Amino acid sequence: MRHTALPTEVVEVINAMPHDSHPMGVLMTGICALSTMHPEANPALAGQGVYKTREMQDKQIVRLLGKIPTIAAMAYHKSTGRKAAPPNQRLDYTENFLYMLDGGYNPQYRPNPRLARALDIMFILHAEHEMNCSTAAVRHLASSGVDVYTAVAGAVGALYGPLHGGANEAVLRMLARIGSVENIPAFIAGVKNKKEKLFGFGHRVYRNFDPRAKIIKEVAENEVFPLVGVDPLIEIAKALQDAALSDEYFVSRKLYPNVDFYSGLVYRALGFPPQFFTVLFAIPRIVGYCAHWRESLTDPDTKIIRPQQDYKGVWLRHYSDVGVRTAEGADTLSKLPPSNAYNRRVAGENWM
Ligand code: SDX
Repeated sequence: MRHTALPTEVVEVINAMPHDSHPMGVLMTGICALSTMHPEANPALAGQGVYKTREMQDKQIVRLLGKIPTIAAMAYHKSTGRKAAPPNQRLDYTENFLYMLDGGYNPQYRPNPRLARALDIMFILHAEHEMNCSTAAVRHLASSGVDVYTAVAGAVGALYGPLHGGANEAVLRMLARIGSVENIPAFIAGVKNKKEKLFGFGHRVYRNFDPRAKIIKEVAENEVFPLVGVDPLIEIAKALQDAALSDEYFVSRKLYPNVDFYSGLVYRALGFPPQFFTVLFAIPRIVGYCAHWRESLTDPDTKIIRPQQDYKGVWLRHYSDVGVRTAEGADTLSKLPPSNAYNRRVAGENWM
């Protein structure tokens, strides 16, 4: 909690961004700006051995964990036009995050403890999930010897994608587009003929119910909805899940709800806009990225990641000599429509 404050330069970089910036773009920018703030922790400047000590590794980890919620709170308020409340180091991690979002200028403000606890459970469930797409990205970047902030910014970029961490936002937009339980059969038909994707379903590894999805559904129904009201989209989500789980197309492909299917409903019930959902995934997942970053540094088998490529292209190509091509090119230029003035001008051709 002592590392929750941001350097003023990082605040200024974020303040300079457009008011309607996607919060994930703001989060990545803030982390990249942090990478320029600690030359003593930059292997490019301080040498590759800079992370040899656990103390130096710990220092970067607590800086990232401390500052990410503060950057996220600034990302949230880009669109509200209000300032995030300054971090309150007397609160616990998730309470402080909600305080920065909603505290405004009232230092006495305290988040609802049950909602803070619900968000804490969501954070714990999202903290680490072995070698997923974005964690593989942090290992990939770290393997080149780059600083941890740059590696984590790259991972957050991978998480941003709708097939990965961006799926929770995509689920909400999908449910809103379906609009009613009556429209589910038509949507399912669209999925089967590959015109739609059932966001929040399927997984690279899980071929059954993602255990996190079960807990998130309980958090939604037992903790959040009783406090803030039931989200009307939950009925569509439940009916969609039931329809998919009893349909051969999904069962035969082992497609089950994943962590993103219900998380968006919890975040929406907590009042977050859909474009902020993936930031709520990124905040806890920084823990996993940092754990993998440290492990990659201390694993003697770590080498720079350079996948093999199996070239399948044309093997031998015949081509005309460049002189011949230029001759043809000049002819082509003269046939260009008048609108292509630039090419004719740079060709030095007097076409007036
Ligand atoms: C996360 O790896 C992790 O751990 C990730 C994560 C984490 O904690 O870090 O768990 C978080 O990213 C969860 C996933 C969130 N993404 C989504 O909800 C997006 C929707 N899901 C799909 O895009 C897809 O399921 C993936 C990307 C998650 C997995 O893609 P795969 O491995 O290519 O899917 P597959 O091999 O299991 O697909 C088998 C078949 C294919 O059809 P056929 O070619 O056999 O006809 O199922 C189809 C796929 O087209 N399919 C889907 C589908 N997912 C797979 N069809 C419709 N809707 C889907 N969601």
